[in-house]
Amino acid sequence: MEMPEKMLSLLVFAMVFVFGVSAKAMSPGPGKPVNNRPIIGILAQQVVDKAMDRFGKTYIPASYVKEMESGGSRVMPIRLNQTLPEYEKIFKTINGMLFIGGAVNLKTSDYARAAKAFYRLAVEANDAGEYFPIWGTCMGFQLLTVLVARENLLSNTTAENVALPLNLTAEAPSSRMFQGFSDELLKALSHENITGNFHHYGITEKAFRGNERLQQFFSILSTNIAENGAEFVSTMEGRKYPFYGVQWHPEVNRFQWNPKKNYPHSQNAASVSSSLATFFVNEARKSFHHFRDPEEERAALIYNYAPVYVGNISGYEQSYFF
Ligand SMILES: *[C@@H]1O[C@H](CO)[C@@H](O)[C@H](O)[C@H]1NC(C)=O
Ligand SMILES: *[C@@H]1O[C@H](CO)[C@@H](O)[C@H](O)[C@H]1NC(C)=O
Ligand SMILES: *[C@@H]1O[C@H](CO)[C@@H](O)[C@H](O)[C@H]1NC(C)=O
Ligand SMILES: *[C@@H]1O[C@H](CO)[C@@H](O)[C@H](O)[C@H]1NC(C)=O
Ligand SMILES: *[C@@H]1O[C@H](CO)[C@@H](O)[C@H](O)[C@H]1NC(C)=O
Repeated sequence: MEMPEKMLSLLVFAMVFVFGVSAKAMSPGPGKPVNNRPIIGILAQQVVDKAMDRFGKTYIPASYVKEMESGGSRVMPIRLNQTLPEYEKIFKTINGMLFIGGAVNLKTSDYARAAKAFYRLAVEANDAGEYFPIWGTCMGFQLLTVLVARENLLSNTTAENVALPLNLTAEAPSSRMFQGFSDELLKALSHENITGNFHHYGITEKAFRGNERLQQFFSILSTNIAENGAEFVSTMEGRKYPFYGVQWHPEVNRFQWNPKKNYPHSQNAASVSSSLATFFVNEARKSFHHFRDPEEERAALIYNYAPVYVGNISGYEQSYFF
């Protein structure tokens, strides 16, 4: 039986209304379906640090895993060098993706290739009316700018081992990312040294605003001043897509403790970290990807791996190796 055209368009409208990409809504509204068993995929990073390479070729610092878990999600580590069909299969089982920090080539590394595959899948899924969020931290942030701009616009914006307040832009208060922040917490974020910076490269505000693709894709939520005086973009969120980037490190505020590093640990610093974890996992709750086989799900999760103590050889406390 053919559906009358009017009914069909009503049905499509209703489906878009219920499941559509409504990036504006922070948490799923009443009556909207939610996925309360989200899984965040974290792409493993190539080990470049000589002190750590005896443990494995790729790693995920435990602080990123804890950050995601603290928002109420489970984590699935994703290995590099898999085939596109393998990544497509994984994509259908996860509800969000985290690109972590590190130090590899953003165009030619195994990491960059895998990240690009997931980025494309996420863009396509969101275009098709699904909701699939991505978060990039530090190098993950830089990677998002390269993927969106389709060129590397990074330059020296060194801010190494320094905690700063964010210079929030006019767009920050109405952003999705900071919607759950109280006025007090937003004030602390812009006045207290509670965002940890550990980077040599970044994108200047000038380079960002000069690139049409970036400008159309992301809103700039904050900037900061680098050691060389350059003003760099420190926080951004997708205008249309649920993609988010921070040049700083929310996870260190609660999960890294090396006394030689300026990791902010005040109550407000911890609140910023936990509020962002809650925010991002809520985004992932709007995705309905899932494993078909519970055995496969069980075997894919991070719980199958034991983190290694690396507090004496790195700035991390613990790390997973693959
Ligand atoms: C990925 O494959 C390349 C080429 O075979 C190899 O050189 C590299 O070590 C692999 N990387 C990882 C992380 O396994
Ligand atoms: C914040 O950090 C800056 C630069 O590192 C420092 O000059 C300033 O005193 C710090 N502010 C507070 C309140 O700790
Ligand atoms: C914020 O911007 C002002 C004006 O450009 C600048 O003087 C200040 O250093 C910036 N603060 C930070 C923490 O980057
Ligand atoms: C970046 O700038 C800083 C501060 O001006 C400088 O110390 C550093 O050597 C520069 N790094 C690179 C990679 O050019
Ligand atoms: C770091 O600690 C681990 C576990 O306690 C120990 O096995 C290792 O030898 C230590 N490494 C260094 C370089 O001290």
